[in-house]
Amino acid sequence: MKKLTLSLLLIVAFSGWSRADEGMWLPIFAEKYNLKAMKDKGFKLTAEDIYSENQNSLKEAVVLFGRGCTGEIISKEGLVITNHHCGFDNIQSHSSVEHDYLKNGFWAYKLGDELPNPGLSVKILVKMEDVTSQVLKGVTAQMAEKDRQTTIKNNSKDILKKVEAATGCKATVEAMFYGNQYMLFVYEEYKDVRLVGAPPSAIGKFGGDTDNWMWPRHTGDFSLFRIYADKNNKPASYSPNNVPFKPSRSLKISLKGIKEGDFTMVYGYPGRTQEYLPASSIKLITEVSNPNKIRLRTKRLDIQNAEMSKNQAVRIQYAAKNASIANAWKKWQGELKGLVRLNAVAKKQQFESEFTAWAKANGKTQFADVVALLDANNAASTTLTIAKDFQTEALWSIESARFAAAFDSLVILSKDKQPNADAIKRQTDKLKKIADGFFKDYYRPIDQQTFVAMLEEFDANVPTSFKPAIIANLKAKYKGFDKLAEKVYAKSIFSNQDQFNELINSYAPKRYKVIDEDPIFQIVMAVNNLYKETVDKPLQDLRNEQNLLLRTYMQGQMEFQPQKVFYPDANSTLRIAYGKVEGYMPVDAVKYHYQSTIEGIMQKDNPNIYDYDVPAKLRELYKTKDYGRYAVNGTVPVAFTASNHTTGGNSGSPVLDAEGNLIGVNFDRCWEGTMSDLMYDPDQCRNITLDIRYALFIIDKYAGAKRLIDEMDIVQ
Ligand code: ARG
Ligand code: GLU
Repeated sequence: MKKLTLSLLLIVAFSGWSRADEGMWLPIFAEKYNLKAMKDKGFKLTAEDIYSENQNSLKEAVVLFGRGCTGEIISKEGLVITNHHCGFDNIQSHSSVEHDYLKNGFWAYKLGDELPNPGLSVKILVKMEDVTSQVLKGVTAQMAEKDRQTTIKNNSKDILKKVEAATGCKATVEAMFYGNQYMLFVYEEYKDVRLVGAPPSAIGKFGGDTDNWMWPRHTGDFSLFRIYADKNNKPASYSPNNVPFKPSRSLKISLKGIKEGDFTMVYGYPGRTQEYLPASSIKLITEVSNPNKIRLRTKRLDIQNAEMSKNQAVRIQYAAKNASIANAWKKWQGELKGLVRLNAVAKKQQFESEFTAWAKANGKTQFADVVALLDANNAASTTLTIAKDFQTEALWSIESARFAAAFDSLVILSKDKQPNADAIKRQTDKLKKIADGFFKDYYRPIDQQTFVAMLEEFDANVPTSFKPAIIANLKAKYKGFDKLAEKVYAKSIFSNQDQFNELINSYAPKRYKVIDEDPIFQIVMAVNNLYKETVDKPLQDLRNEQNLLLRTYMQGQMEFQPQKVFYPDANSTLRIAYGKVEGYMPVDAVKYHYQSTIEGIMQKDNPNIYDYDVPAKLRELYKTKDYGRYAVNGTVPVAFTASNHTTGGNSGSPVLDAEGNLIGVNFDRCWEGTMSDLMYDPDQCRNITLDIRYALFIIDKYAGAKRLIDEMDIVQ
């Protein structure tokens, strides 16, 4: 009896994780799963307003921006707002020391000044659909996993072929719940997207990596783009004749402001969460993988930061790379702390024993040993995972090594008895293109130091059976990696543009030796080749097996908790999350307020600290209190926190009020809650939103880009 009460209590405690605010939900099911809870929180619209195929719902205004961000359309002329860090690569690529848009910002004061961005596109979802029964047609329970995958692949192909032929759009089929459900997504893709405006980094990246992932926050993290279409308003590649896209729906912007407890909703493309993993996977991530990756990135960042602070050109070259390395590096650290604080492993283990006991007691044999099998799979993966992490995070972080790996095909082609001149020409042309991008943002002293640091790490930590002999040989010959690096970096074609050009511009097959005998090339190829059979293949087999086990475990969790509504893990498909404006308590006795203001910017102001150097013009606006209609109680709101469940990819997502008006742009999460990708905590998990009033204040008062304000639909 006592035992039963205890286990009931634990189940109740466990399902407490999924309190209302947790979840990233497929908008097509909003009516079924979410609307009631949303209305209870104050939402005033219907499910049809959120998602419908009649071209009039909010979804029309939400775009998948570039490769992994979200943006939203905020004018009838196709104006898009997203984060500064989402536009960062593009802003950087238009920047030089003479025209430093990263440093000074960029504003197109007329349409003709808007800058095209080759390679950048946005996608608008046309529709989504549950296609589980079509995808699983012909799949049986007895089927071998390989055959199941083949059937699924073929069925999906058929579905895609049909929709693409019928709509002329691009489509994908995505697995939900590890393949317990399949959804179809149809997109219209726009390839002419131009840069319209970006504040200086001292606003758009204010606080830099010091404040990244933290609250209180004062970053004006936004940039503006515009979608262009052809004369018929259809997607088209870049052309000077294209015209601003006329969307079927754009968002209204609300200046009404927010207060504690107000309903909020985030509509966007969250990238990846793993909420349903067993404890042993959490342990592998947090005790093995992430500590290694964090340490390796600390070394790389130290090297980069030292060089970047010495030289403005290097700072521009490494700005985007550095930010992206630092971003995950800092998140992993917050995630580790959060999981410890949540007692995540113990909680999951407790759940697993409840689950397994239930399966055994109820004759659910397919679920009875699934956790044990997952544990065994993780145990078998541990050493291989370590090896893999050191390949991706150490070896491949040597820039010239990654670059060198691209020359493998050229060497193979050249070694042929009768080299194919056309194929070689195609390959060298391709490599020339890669090289242009590579050398533009390459600084040899950074790479040389990274080479030494990463080889030392690789050598010290990778199990001997996964280490090619060349590493020990070179280390012995040069008495460590420093001397080797000096020699290599003085002349390698992979780190010297002149030598590279000399080779590639007069390339002949017999010169392949210059590549083949280059130590950088030799090291990276030796590791990659050895890894193919000894690491990659067995690891892939284990991952395939794990996927199958997770599918079973997922199904089991759903049967075990029939009363719980599950949301599928994020997988870069369109989702809604909802919650309310609220602060939180990061540590005992400290309560964070939900709103930050321009006062905080001035409190952080320090011309001697790069991340906190407030631009003179902003100081001036602060001094004269020239806030216009964006003033609230004598100040300007900058950012706010709310309890929406978000993750990477939600950057740039619209944050909407109860009426579906835009109140802000999502750009981050609070440090204490970054474990929400693995386990959500309603007390600690908060998303950080740029208050739209600060963005408009910057556009209007700081940049004077009045024409942009005029095209927006602002409600007051
Ligand atoms: N943490 C935010 C996100 O995950 C912002 C990243 C960009 N900013 C930076 N300082 N690195 O994308
Ligand atoms: N900054 C993140 C992004 O680029 C969003 C923050 C998060 O991970 O929640 O998507």
